[in-house]
Amino acid sequence: MTGDKKTVFSGVQPSGNLTIGNYLGAIKNFSKFSEEYKTFYCVVDLHAITVRQVPAELRKRTYETLALYMACGLDEKKNTLFVQSHVPQHAELGWILDCYTMFGELSRMTQFKDKSAKNAQNINAGLFTYPALMAADILLYQTDVVPVGIDQKQHLELARDVAMRFNQIYSDTFTVPEGYINTDTMKIMSLAEPTAKMSKSDPNQNAVVYILDSKDDIIRKFKRAVTDSDTTVKYSDEKPGISNLMTIYRAFTGKTYEEIEREFDGRGYGDFKLAVGEACADGLAPVRDEFSRLIADKAHLEAVMKSGAEEAAYYARKTMSKVRRKIGFVN
Ligand code: TRP
Repeated sequence: MTGDKKTVFSGVQPSGNLTIGNYLGAIKNFSKFSEEYKTFYCVVDLHAITVRQVPAELRKRTYETLALYMACGLDEKKNTLFVQSHVPQHAELGWILDCYTMFGELSRMTQFKDKSAKNAQNINAGLFTYPALMAADILLYQTDVVPVGIDQKQHLELARDVAMRFNQIYSDTFTVPEGYINTDTMKIMSLAEPTAKMSKSDPNQNAVVYILDSKDDIIRKFKRAVTDSDTTVKYSDEKPGISNLMTIYRAFTGKTYEEIEREFDGRGYGDFKLAVGEACADGLAPVRDEFSRLIADKAHLEAVMKSGAEEAAYYARKTMSKVRRKIGFVN
């Protein structure tokens, strides 16, 4: 809780283009919390450096990620939007929570195993302790609800365990957070290989639709989407390609699977793929337009970052003084 409202916190890394999977699975849900909750949305640049970044690119993407948050409907007056490294308490609590997070727990994290397999030349300590920093992000704001994609479920459970452990040792200090995982759209699959998750780092660019892709690119990618040799538009486990397209179409149009099956009854895949491409491109058009407007005004983005960080730091300082006192640090 922050004040009289429950708190929502989530973070997105400034590491590259966000996909429609990130959009439908997480970011699109963020704005619906802003009326009822106190909401903190953070661009997590400290997390980004667990893999090597080109400095100029990191800086550029930090602005872009903030602009994208805003373009996806997060009003800076209703949400606290900020950059993680602007609030030093994240790093401070991150270190402290390292000391309450077990080597064995961190060793079981599947994201660590995946990322260290992919970056065998740079398996740094930060990559390993990343989930303790993520726990710090969440616990600093006494967060009640954390909207994330399903891939973050294991990290969230670790954050809960660490909060409970700390509370048990020192008496109630942190709110134990709950995850909010949108199960409807949690898994948007690759367009080229519909049994694998759509991933922003997929080398095959036709497999991935980015939020900021042009309409032509979006339509072309959906036209090429891998389906099956059948012709009926039907949702089924045996038809992962078509089912994935139906999930995307449903997310952008609000139609049910039955309505979609009826709409394309007897019409074949060509028509359907075009309709999905158009619905997706049209759904994203306002985001793209708003993004271009926002990214052109750096001064405004900087003002948003600055006031967001000030607001966040106010709450972060409150939690930190409690934490320091409980641990036994001299004031
Ligand atoms: N680990 C998250 C991801 O890779 C990003 C993140 C960092 C986050 N800190 C967070 C998400 C706190 C939710 C809450 O997507």
